[in-house]
Amino acid sequence: MRKKIVAGNWKMNKTLPEGIELAKEVNEKVKALHPAGVQVVLGTPFIHLSEVNKTVNAPQLAVSAQNCATEASGAYTGEISAAMVASTGCRYVILGHSERRSYYGETDAILVKKVAQALENNLEIIFCVGEVLEERESERHFEVVRSQLEKGLFQLDKSAFARIVIAYEPVWAIGTGKTATAAQAQEMHAFIRSVVNGKYGTEAAQNTSILYGGSLNAKNADELFSNPDVDGGLIGGASLKAEDFAAIIASREAH
Ligand code: 13P
Repeated sequence: MRKKIVAGNWKMNKTLPEGIELAKEVNEKVKALHPAGVQVVLGTPFIHLSEVNKTVNAPQLAVSAQNCATEASGAYTGEISAAMVASTGCRYVILGHSERRSYYGETDAILVKKVAQALENNLEIIFCVGEVLEERESERHFEVVRSQLEKGLFQLDKSAFARIVIAYEPVWAIGTGKTATAAQAQEMHAFIRSVVNGKYGTEAAQNTSILYGGSLNAKNADELFSNPDVDGGLIGGASLKAEDFAAIIASREAH
């Protein structure tokens, strides 16, 4: 069965000492909560990975990078390879975030390479998809998300695809305080599951965790998590405060 996942994406926030402090706080809260059946993920900046991995020990907690390089190693100044990420003790990597797609020009072709590198290094991938406002307003959101799945992931065989978590993040809801309604989230998540079903079959579709991201917070978590196809969340702003993040974890466990 698919996992319930609450993943924080810290983005470019927190110095190293601040990040270690936050990881400690989250670790204590997760230990106290004991959220049976919820995988909690901390998506930290690269330089935090090693220390945060050493800091956390709650059994439900894993650490994630927010990106990795397209190449394995070599003369790529400033890049961080998937092997380096894995060597810090990380289990996950977030790929295809809309901020990477729009600000850093990450195309589907680039993502295919990053996905291959991540899998080669045994990382699990939180792969982000989602439409911009204009695409939703012109009712092209399903088409856009289908294309992102097909072009970024459907080169994988079934066993490789089993290492993918999908995060649906409508770009218009990221950091805007404007959340997709529970109905909009459920509709898109069910659509994504049907597209996965079409490619990999029912079992794979049922086993794929699909997370919602975009202004998810302690207040709207219950409503979003009560949908059958919303398996968890990818959380930006609200993952930067241990208390808010813990409340979201508790909500995921309760639904
Ligand atoms: P916010 O929760 O800050 O809207 O960010 C969502 C996100 O982009 C997570 O990857």
